Amino acid sequence: MSNPSLLILPGDGIGPEVMAEVTKIIDWYGTKGGLKFDVSTDLVGGCAYDKHGVPLADETMAKAQEVDAVLLGAVGGPKYDNLDFSVKPERGLLRLRKEMDLYANLRPAQCFDALADFSSLKKDVVAGLDIMIVRELTSGVYFGEPRGIFEEGNERVGINTQRYTESEIDRVARSAFELARKRNNKVCSMEKANVMESGILWREVVQKVHDEDYPDVELTHMYADAGAMQLTRWPKQFDVIVTDNLFGDLLSDLAAMLTGSLGMLPSASLGAPMANGRPKALYEPVHGSAPDIAGQGKANPIACILSFAMALRYSFDQGAEADRLEKAVEKVLADGLRTADLLGEEGVQPVSTSEMGDAIVAALDASL
Ligand code: IPM
Ligand code: MG
Repeated sequence: MSNPSLLILPGDGIGPEVMAEVTKIIDWYGTKGGLKFDVSTDLVGGCAYDKHGVPLADETMAKAQEVDAVLLGAVGGPKYDNLDFSVKPERGLLRLRKEMDLYANLRPAQCFDALADFSSLKKDVVAGLDIMIVRELTSGVYFGEPRGIFEEGNERVGINTQRYTESEIDRVARSAFELARKRNNKVCSMEKANVMESGILWREVVQKVHDEDYPDVELTHMYADAGAMQLTRWPKQFDVIVTDNLFGDLLSDLAAMLTGSLGMLPSASLGAPMANGRPKALYEPVHGSAPDIAGQGKANPIACILSFAMALRYSFDQGAEADRLEKAVEKVLADGLRTADLLGEEGVQPVSTSEMGDAIVAALDASL
C-alpha cells in the first residue's frame, strides 16, 4: 500500500516558518515514528498571486482534491491589501474550503495547564478548559448570493446574504453530535433565531437531527450574542458548540483568546468521506500570517504542529500518535519553554520558532 499523501501549503508571513517546524515532526514520524507520508509542497495566498496572478492556481486546487490531507500555514499580508477582492490571498483559502466542500470546521479551545496564567480571564475560569467549536464553513453569509456593491438611486449599497439549506444545517449538526459522543456528550447550538429566519431554520433542523438520531446527546440552544457572553463568563459550561460560518468566525476567535494565545490553537476542516474512507480534510492554525513578526524566528509553531496532530487523529486514524504529539507539546510547555508570544513570567527568555520545534522533536524522541 502506498503512503498517505500530504499537500503542504505554507502560504505567507509566518506560514513558512511555522510549517518548517511541522516538517521536522513529519520527518520524525517518517524516520522514527513508523509513519511515512508522501509530501508535496505548493503555493497559496499572496505568494501564489506573485507567481501566478491568482491566490490559488488550478493545478494546486486539483492536487488538494487528490491528497489525503492538506496542511496550510497562513495567508495574507499588507503587500496584498490593495489587490482586487477577487484575487486577495484570503480568496485562495476560501476556494479550498468551498471546492473541497469542507463544511465542518473544528476549532478546539484548550487551555494548557502551564499557560493558564496567560489568559486575560481569571485562572480558575480557564484552567482545564477543553471545548470544541464546530463552525459551518462552506455556506452562510460568506458565500450567499446576491452579494456585491451595487448602485441604488444616488448612492451605493453593500449586500451579503445569509443563506442556509436544511441539508447544510443537517450535515454540520451531525458532525457536532458525533464529536460530542466522543467527548462529554453535550452540544450547544448558537444562532439568532430571535431576529433571523435562517436562525429559526437552524434551530429547527438541529433539534430534529438530535431528536431523530442523537437523543442520547444533551442539546441546548443559545442566541449567539448570549453565547459570546457565556463563553467569557464561564466557558467550562460548554463541550461542543455548533454554529454558522460568521458566528463561528467570531466565537472561535473569542474562545481562542480564553486560552491565552492565538499561537496555540489548531483547526481541522472536514468534508465528506473520500473513496478511501478518509474525510476530505484541511488542517491549519487558527492564527493568521502575522506579517509584523514574519521572518524573525519569533512565531509560535505550536498551533501548526497541533494542526498536524489533528490530521493524525481525524485523517489517519492515529489517535495514539496524536496523543503522543500533544503530550510532547505539553511537556515542553511544562518545562518552561516559551516563544515570544508567551512571555510575561519573570526571568523567562524566549526561544525561537525553530528551537521550539527542536524541543518538541526531542520530547517525541524521549517518548519512545
Ligand atoms: C478564519 C479567518 C478567515 C475567515 C479569513 C482569513 C478568510 O478569519 O479562518 O477564521 O474569515 O474565515
Ligand atoms: Mg477568523
